[in-house]
Amino acid sequence: MIPDAPYVSSISQRPTVSGSLPDGTVVSSNSARYHRAHSGDTSGWQLLSGRLPGTVRHDTGSTMNAVFAHLPVMLEQITDVFSDMNDGVFLDATLGGAGHSTAILTAHPHVSLLGIDQDDMALDSAEQVLAAAGCSGRVALRRARFDAAALIAAKEGISALSGALFDLGVSSPQFDVAERGFSYRFDAPLDMRMDRTQALSADVIVNTYDEDALTSMLRRNADERHAYRIAKAIIAARPIHSTVRLSDVVSSAIPAPARRRGGHPAKRTFQAIRIEVNAELEILPGALRNVISLLAPGARLAVLSYHSGEDRIVKSVMRSAETGDCDCPPNLPCGCGAVRSVVRVRAPRDASRAELAQNPRSSSARLRVVEKIQIESQN
Ligand SMILES: C[S@@+](CC[C@H](N)C(=O)[O-])C[C@H]1O[C@@H](n2cnc3c(N)ncnc32)[C@H](O)[C@@H]1O
Repeated sequence: MIPDAPYVSSISQRPTVSGSLPDGTVVSSNSARYHRAHSGDTSGWQLLSGRLPGTVRHDTGSTMNAVFAHLPVMLEQITDVFSDMNDGVFLDATLGGAGHSTAILTAHPHVSLLGIDQDDMALDSAEQVLAAAGCSGRVALRRARFDAAALIAAKEGISALSGALFDLGVSSPQFDVAERGFSYRFDAPLDMRMDRTQALSADVIVNTYDEDALTSMLRRNADERHAYRIAKAIIAARPIHSTVRLSDVVSSAIPAPARRRGGHPAKRTFQAIRIEVNAELEILPGALRNVISLLAPGARLAVLSYHSGEDRIVKSVMRSAETGDCDCPPNLPCGCGAVRSVVRVRAPRDASRAELAQNPRSSSARLRVVEKIQIESQN
């Protein structure tokens, strides 16, 4: 169980000892940042003490040197959702820089955290932020995809959760570090992998998918109206290995009037490829259903989504947990045997005007919450 355990390495099961980085920071020897620092790769995130929870500094190497922050979105509303949470284990399935988790652990001194992220840089940052907040002793961090959350919980001996959060998509530092290859703003190799150990990258998709596969991916993941033209242009321009080259090819495939509307012309293509690389939509329904099953009675799951494809899935999974997919007429007793009312669904919420002014990322955020009201049973 987590509560008595010291910080559990997110990176591997090797015994943990402390090591120090060139800047003097002491970190776990299992941390990816430690290994990068000792293998000559110093591109880790660095904690700036005294900043907001989740605020980290990242030196972006040759393209630029700047301080970046991932400001946790709708932080006040999220902490409010869990304000009366029972003691036990809180799951953060998308830990990122641990901004939300730090606030939740600080408000609940007897709650432990199971934190999951598939990005080793995010875990490094979270490790430091949680340590600086004095929370390391009640935290277990795992590098994994969130569809493994139920399996990881079972391995940790966790049979029920007191609360859970999915803050979907990408963190600001993932976008803002040029060499991660997520953004058309910087010239970099096409990558976009959150988990940098996986084989599928943006380069593989751009250079190997056929016309049908590219077209349907662009429609499915980003509602791209010019999907077919873009797919044809990509295939004609191969090989394409850099973000800026891809951005130019996509921009020139889009008719001039459409290019002048609705933001950067390559925005949707980059979104669609990122979603494909990281299987973002594919694994979401199963992961949400598993976590809903693990909620203790009275516990809540909060999900922050950032585009319509994600939100449709979140809404549909929550609705089906509420209704059991029962389509019997509402004025008659249910005759289909559906398991109904496992959860109560709250009305969705968006970020406040004040937050929109401060954090542009919050403009597309939608918060949906379900609360478990009974243990699932076969009617
Ligand atoms: C929006 S950020 C979370 C920010 C976090 N709430 C905070 O306060 O700093 C999303 C994080 O989820 C991670 N992520 C996205 N999809 C994931 C998945 N399928 N499995 C595990 N981690 C995922 C990303 O690597 C990223 O670090």
